[in-house]
Amino acid sequence: MKKLFLAGAAALALSLCASAQVKVLGDRIAVNTANNSLILSARSGSSLGFLHFGARLSDADIEALQFAGVRPLNAYPAYGQGEIREDAIAVTHPDGNMSLDLVVENVITDSSRDTDIACITLKDKVYDFRVKVYYKAFKDVDMIETWTEIVNDGKKPVVLRKFDSAFLPFHTGDVWVSHLYGTWANEGRLVEEPLQRGTLRIENKDGVRNSHTSHAEIMISLDGKPSENTGSVIGAALCYSGNYHLDIITNDTDYHRLFAGISPDNSTLTLDKGESFRTPELAITFSDEGLSGASRNFHRWARAHKIAHGDRERKILLNSWEGVYFNINEPGMDQMMGDIASMGGELFVMDDGWFGDKYPRLNDSSSLGDWVVDKNKLPNGVGGLVETARKHGISFGIWIEPEMANTVSELYEKHPDWIINAPGRDVVKGRGGSQVVLDLSNPAVQDYVFSIVDNLMTDYPGIDYIKWDANMSVSSHGSSYLPADRQSELNIRYHQGFAAVCDRIRAKYPDLTIQACASGGGRASYGVLPWFDEFWVSDNTDALQRIYMQWGTSYFFPSITMASHISAVPNHTVYRVTPLKFRIDVAMSGRLGMELQPKDMTPEEIAQCKQAIADYKSVRPVVQFGDIYRLVSPYDNLGVASMMYVGQDKSEAVFYWWRIDNMYDSHLPRVKMAGLDPDRNYRIVELDKAPGRPLSFEGRSFSGSFLMDVGLEMPGGFSRDLQGYASRVLHLIAE
Ligand code: DGJ
Repeated sequence: MKKLFLAGAAALALSLCASAQVKVLGDRIAVNTANNSLILSARSGSSLGFLHFGARLSDADIEALQFAGVRPLNAYPAYGQGEIREDAIAVTHPDGNMSLDLVVENVITDSSRDTDIACITLKDKVYDFRVKVYYKAFKDVDMIETWTEIVNDGKKPVVLRKFDSAFLPFHTGDVWVSHLYGTWANEGRLVEEPLQRGTLRIENKDGVRNSHTSHAEIMISLDGKPSENTGSVIGAALCYSGNYHLDIITNDTDYHRLFAGISPDNSTLTLDKGESFRTPELAITFSDEGLSGASRNFHRWARAHKIAHGDRERKILLNSWEGVYFNINEPGMDQMMGDIASMGGELFVMDDGWFGDKYPRLNDSSSLGDWVVDKNKLPNGVGGLVETARKHGISFGIWIEPEMANTVSELYEKHPDWIINAPGRDVVKGRGGSQVVLDLSNPAVQDYVFSIVDNLMTDYPGIDYIKWDANMSVSSHGSSYLPADRQSELNIRYHQGFAAVCDRIRAKYPDLTIQACASGGGRASYGVLPWFDEFWVSDNTDALQRIYMQWGTSYFFPSITMASHISAVPNHTVYRVTPLKFRIDVAMSGRLGMELQPKDMTPEEIAQCKQAIADYKSVRPVVQFGDIYRLVSPYDNLGVASMMYVGQDKSEAVFYWWRIDNMYDSHLPRVKMAGLDPDRNYRIVELDKAPGRPLSFEGRSFSGSFLMDVGLEMPGGFSRDLQGYASRVLHLIAE
């Protein structure tokens, strides 16, 4: 760790190279990745200045910035002294003073195997109050994480009224923002809009599931209307599991100003003497290869540094929910396990309905909190099922919803004070008319939630996978644990408790696979993925609607995180009937699984799924670890959607083509591929081949440049069995 200058010292004139990633050049700080630079000016006794974030700059260019007309903006604006626009932080000092005047006190750099960090300590000119602003640059991926640590060094409590993770300005122009919006069964819908005067607020206040409604990730296209494979794009993702806001403010300055952090609404925090608060990271990236380029940066960073087991292939599974819902019983589980094993699957997950003693879980109106097996349904318990899975040669997984209870449960009878609810008010109940959220700000509740996983894993070490669900919001504000003057901290303390529990689980069970499910895709968030391997994209498994949802979700999250299952028709949510091939071809673009009752399938359908699973296995490394190139967006209404994954060494690729409308005489565009090596030849092998519809180019080779400049003509014709939903998946193999 290097401390580069101290309070009161004049700005250092010397040029000091701390490391390749973080450089201190006079009063300039360069936070670099291979292709990105974030440049600050840190003059002791002055406010921290933001100069640039975008393409990587040379030292000479950084030096020349001052002559390029670039004026520093306050990199972490504070309320109350000179800052008349928006602020990143606002506090009330013990004497009632509501202002801050933060200036640079010192700069510290640090280095680890994967990252370099710059920490700039800002101190109030009058009060013993500091904000440490961190910038962490990754050595192997284009990503910088930034966050703050807010420290009360004074003698009395300070109240934090706003405490953003970061401020990021970008110059006005024809600037567009892409972000995700949605709801249950329609998650991850892409919204693209030009930035106009005013404030664009992206926020979530669910309390628990923070990627329903809006997502905490955005793309900023700096060169006009967003384009997939060209143009300058900034991507930003707030890595937080709770309530947040991302505000982009466009007013009378030459900059759009992004403020991102925990939602301060109804959430003031008090820092006692000597206490500090760490804000969640905002991860930022820049790409000059369009939206897909920024996505590739997110995906590489996620796999290498941000998600659980980012380097581990995901298993192909059958989840029991849409197959049997609450109707769990031993012979049924045995049959489903046998069926998925016979199709080549590797894991079976028993969903909701397996637990409850005094109150058996027959539907969603009872039993959450009573994590004991229902012996009427499963006489041989969970152990018997683990053994059955072993017999079938597959792994076993189990569903829990540990942060929740039903008021109809033994847990609630014993600990009515463990739930979140405003004191003295009627209990607000959610799903099933009796669901409530447990108060994770309470350490006793944290111990209990940890014990749910710990007991299962101790009793049945053979459990390989946990589906961790969460189906309710914080709908009444109140904690029996927090003192009266700390009730405003509930939303934040809940997520600190959640993090503490997850840390304990991961410390003890590092190998366990855990899926984040939250009423479908309510936890597709980098705030939870450090502990979770993947998320359930949506309870809506309709293949057509999934194309739209998975398209948007892929902006920020890699395919290994996106659980994508083949389900039955008519679809259980939208009742659409699509061909099995179409459903398979969509599911194969994410982490493949199944969500149906195999015994209801015909022998032909079973054979088709068996073949598809074998095909998926043959390309799994490319799909799960390849680079994404989105080609034709479903949101462009061209009748087709198409994307591909290209292996890191470009020796293999998987190309997806889905027809998304069903209109006669609509003419589909020819799709040009991307990301291939122009100088290599690629042989085309179709996957999930439908009988009787060979492609003219099956087994033929084409140069990468032909495939990228000209493209293949995909037959999109109609037939009775395709019902308008033609689709193709191609494996490209370099020769
Ligand atoms: C909501 C989830 O999204 C579903 O996949 C399923 O696990 C149900 N909960 C079970 O109650």
